[in-house]
Amino acid sequence: METTAVTRVLVTGTSAGLGLSALGHLLDAGAQVVAHVRRAEQLDAVGRTLGTDVPGVFGDLADREQVRDVAEQVARLGGVDAIIHNAGTMDESLVLDVNVIAPYLLTALIPAQRHVYLSSGMHRGARLNTTRLAEVDWTGARPTVSYSDSKLLVTALAAAAGRMLPGTWTNAVDPGWVPTRMGGSCAPDDLEAGHRTQVWLALGEDPRTLANAYWYHLSVQEPDRRVKDTEFQDGVIAALEQATQTHLG
Ligand SMILES: NC(=O)c1ccc[n+]([C@@H]2O[C@H](COP(=O)([O-])OP(=O)(O)OC[C@H]3O[C@@H](n4cnc5c(N)ncnc54)[C@H](OP(=O)(O)O)[C@@H]3O)[C@@H](O)[C@H]2O)c1
Repeated sequence: METTAVTRVLVTGTSAGLGLSALGHLLDAGAQVVAHVRRAEQLDAVGRTLGTDVPGVFGDLADREQVRDVAEQVARLGGVDAIIHNAGTMDESLVLDVNVIAPYLLTALIPAQRHVYLSSGMHRGARLNTTRLAEVDWTGARPTVSYSDSKLLVTALAAAAGRMLPGTWTNAVDPGWVPTRMGGSCAPDDLEAGHRTQVWLALGEDPRTLANAYWYHLSVQEPDRRVKDTEFQDGVIAALEQATQTHLG
């Protein structure tokens, strides 16, 4: 008898907000999950909220060594088919590491068929371009990148990774401005719609998800033109490889 493999999805930043909602939606869909949280003790609260224990990995994504350790923990759990790179911050002293370096390292270090990156409509307001990449302090010691810049970088990473990792589907999602801790209680968009696209892309059951695109509420959108500029993408990947001494692909 033929058996169908159950999809196993790692979601980063599942203590609250969109990551926690995505985890619940994945379980409802019958997927296996691996929950990432910053500290081990946060996993109990995740299990209480979801009504079931879930396997977890731990690490502060602002610390590059801890990100590498997260990848090793995932390998010890047997790996995953898909990753939702959800964890994010608006703290400008941390946006480079948490919103960009961590997704880059996890993409390079964890073999997965599908990667879903949390972008934002705010990527359009980024000031970075190919020339200005040289002005970024890639060590993260000095805050030289805004939240908008970080979302442009991770959206370009999504586009570049699709080119550089054959057989891998890499998509970026604007979840809308939704009422989470980050979005604030007055955010006007739909919280349920805010995680649905990431889960759908991670499960990869619909042929439309076998893509390398920028999405908003289950629809492909046109990102800022810098995202599709291969010179910009190559500059971003070269800087990330240099900063992390870790090769993509
Ligand atoms: N909400 C919106 O309107 C909106 C709009 C566009 C894009 N987004 C993006 O959507 C994603 C999720 O946002 P959200 O609204 O759900 O935010 P949130 O409620 O603030 O949740 C953020 C999650 O990321 C984790 N995280 C942050 N820094 C971390 C670190 N250094 N190490 C480990 N985990 C860390 C948090 O863990 P702790 O609890 O331990 O801090 C939390 O689980 C982010 O990438 C965000 O940029 C959100």
